[in-house]
Amino acid sequence: MSETIAVAPRARVTNAAAVLKASAVFWFVTAAIGQIAFIWFISAFYVPPTLQGQFEAWNRKGLITGYVAGDDAGNLQFAIHVLLAALITAGGLLQLIPAIRRRAPKFHRWNGRFYLVLVAVMSLGGLWLVWVRGTYLTIPGAISISTLAVLTLIAGGITLRHALARRFPLHERWALRLFILASGVWFQRVGYMAWMILNGGPVGMGSRMDGPFDIAWGFGQFVLPLTVLELYMWARRRGPSAAKLAVAGLVTALTLVMAVGIFGTVSIMWWRFL
Ligand code: HEM
Repeated sequence: MSETIAVAPRARVTNAAAVLKASAVFWFVTAAIGQIAFIWFISAFYVPPTLQGQFEAWNRKGLITGYVAGDDAGNLQFAIHVLLAALITAGGLLQLIPAIRRRAPKFHRWNGRFYLVLVAVMSLGGLWLVWVRGTYLTIPGAISISTLAVLTLIAGGITLRHALARRFPLHERWALRLFILASGVWFQRVGYMAWMILNGGPVGMGSRMDGPFDIAWGFGQFVLPLTVLELYMWARRRGPSAAKLAVAGLVTALTLVMAVGIFGTVSIMWWRFL
């Protein structure tokens, strides 16, 4: 009897940890499906015309500033940005797969270096597009995407520093933050679609992305996923069973919303351009 009492709380902790882990796996598999769809869209819509130098084809899609005749620097930066967009998305997913980390550590290290270079090029290139080319619709929108770029650069630097110093638990935590930040623009698209589908229309959105939802989600695209990640990492490390279960419930619920958004990005946002 006393043995049962002694074992029961530990079993509860183990079960709660397993439930939390299962919610994280559910999240990752769903996000991976959505990000593979993003890679597929970029590869089908942007990569072929860009490699063939047919930059005008970008403008088939409603962009703020896509191809502009005579703007060689801007067009080149946009070309680099969309070509690398597919690679950074694939690189991030590969870094997070535990089996690859375990069985191919050399690949993990090389892909990690490559990913960090891409993080720097995409973030600095994105900042150039916004502030030098002037690709933005509202100042709050320009500030939110720039904040995302700066945070991504900082997280990239810290992730690298911990890896070089072989501080692996810290490296893992910062790598997860980096993945979330580098996925910010993907969360933006998924969030837009989930919001529109769940509200039955573009509630709070302005024609120039200047509605209350547009402004809020500019920041929300990285603040919300980062907050959930922090809660998850806290619950995993030292949260009591109840907290682990509560965070697992939150992650599962938000993953279902994310799945609605992923469905929207593919069926509403991207499909018609292919
Ligand atoms: C790191 C991950 C990133 C990925 C995967 C990515 C992906 C893309 C893609 C696919 C496009 C083409 C537009 C579309 O079809 O939706 C694009 C455009 C653009 N991106 Fe990024 N991007 C990233 C980061 C950033 C950052 C950090 C910034 C800003 C600081 C930025 C600024 C822009 C701008 C200004 C455009 C042009 C939008 C337009 O003209 O409508 N990107 N990006």
